[in-house]
Amino acid sequence: MASHQPIRNRIAILATLTLAGAALSIFPAKLRAQAESAAGGQQAAAPKPKTAGEAFKNIQVLKDIRQDELFPSMRYITAALGVRCDFCHVPEHFEKDDKPQKARAREMMKMMFAINNDNFHGHREITCYTCHRGSEHPVGMPAVANASAMGAMAAQMPPGRNTPNPAANSSAGPPPGGGGGERLEHDPGDAAAPSPGAASLPTVDDIIAKYTQALGGADVIQKAGTRVEKGTVDVPERNSHNTMEVFRKAPDKAFAILHTPMGDIVEGYDGVVAWENHQGHGVTEETGDSLNRVKDWASFITGLDLKRDYARVMVSGIEKIGDHDAYRVFASRKEGGMERLYFDTQSGLLLRVDARIDSPLGSLPQETSYEDYRDVSGVKIPFTIRVAKIDSTTIYKWSSVEMNVPVGEDRFAKPADAAPASGPQPGNPKAPTP
Ligand code: HEC
Ligand code: HEC
Repeated sequence: MASHQPIRNRIAILATLTLAGAALSIFPAKLRAQAESAAGGQQAAAPKPKTAGEAFKNIQVLKDIRQDELFPSMRYITAALGVRCDFCHVPEHFEKDDKPQKARAREMMKMMFAINNDNFHGHREITCYTCHRGSEHPVGMPAVANASAMGAMAAQMPPGRNTPNPAANSSAGPPPGGGGGERLEHDPGDAAAPSPGAASLPTVDDIIAKYTQALGGADVIQKAGTRVEKGTVDVPERNSHNTMEVFRKAPDKAFAILHTPMGDIVEGYDGVVAWENHQGHGVTEETGDSLNRVKDWASFITGLDLKRDYARVMVSGIEKIGDHDAYRVFASRKEGGMERLYFDTQSGLLLRVDARIDSPLGSLPQETSYEDYRDVSGVKIPFTIRVAKIDSTTIYKWSSVEMNVPVGEDRFAKPADAAPASGPQPGNPKAPTP
């Protein structure tokens, strides 16, 4: 029943700009196997997912992880070392062991598991990033004092030769490898203790009521049945610029076409099955963490049904998001993952969602910002969505958003697996307007 697509397809998908990679909200699935149980009855009949050892050609260490956990693991180590896939792999031949770095990475994985087993009761406390911090060569020695400390020292020196100059100091930049690391593995749960003054915080219901009001009110939102968004998708770090169309049907059906020079990438969710269709590579079904990510992305209005989508929701404090004060809401999944949502204390609108992309080797942060809210048929819709990851930012900018235009129901369902090539498929319309 579940499609076991050829691995090549997955690699091609990963190597190109993927919708999943650019997906709007990353679901922090924490523990494997729980994604299936969480889906309840719907997936009860699905066959047991393959392990990475079964699905790939040459897996020696990560044999027992699920097939769909391999790519998140690869993305994780790539980011943790600040390298690219070809640092360890011969392009197109990922199974080959030609590069010494790949062998080294296997030893490192074993070392990491051993450290955690022997010292941390098997909890994933030490990860690749703990040592590597975005560099292939971990640094064993602390860096010299940062620029401003140098400035302070210089200030104590006799005047004359080197007059301290704050502007010059600030241009020196941070020491290599510095900054930002702690947040990566930081579980928002750790900080779940309400901050002082929590007594004066609104309740989750208050925040949702204000959000609903800010969006245009429950009545107007209720009447919004479909939405079509068209615009551009940019990843400045990769010099990538593409156009995109998204078709949505409340409450949770969605269908997107990303037009790339390599062909269209189409992704859909019909309320149950999430799928992807890469021109020339056939249709693949999303499982595990990616499935949950698509579900989030398919939600008609992000963050409106917190109590339905999360097992536990609590308001934990006020934080600055850009220039705005925002209520910070912790929302935890039945499966164990947790996200932070930030609602503007003034406007009531959702400003940002922080999530983690999990993998058996570690997790990566992802921050999705919602900006430039504009009125579309009475409902406020963010026209700019910025998805920041450790190594790149994907910016969606809608040039047009239309509400309640006809959207063919057949678009959301997974197209037949058969034709990987061209030809009219429901998931592959050339003229996006129904
Ligand atoms: C730091 C080294 C390193 C980097 C970077 C890396 N990989 Fe890997 N990759 C490995 C190792 C090691 C294995 C084998 C794991 C094992 O034996 O358990 C592997 C296995 C694979 C496999 C399975 C191949 C097979 O059929 O056996 C694929 C596919 C793969 N990697 C894809 C990628 C992609 C795509 C990227 C970039 C996003 C990437 N890798 C980045 C080290 C790396
Ligand atoms: C406890 C600290 C630590 C952890 C955890 C760790 N590494 Fe390393 N790693 C090192 C050190 C130290 C080196 C040697 C650095 C050098 O050559 O400059 C190294 C070297 C490497 C190299 C060789 C780099 C090169 O340029 O040849 C690879 C590949 C690598 N690590 C991958 C990983 C991966 C993947 C993980 C997580 C599964 C990981 N490491 C976890 C400390 C660590």
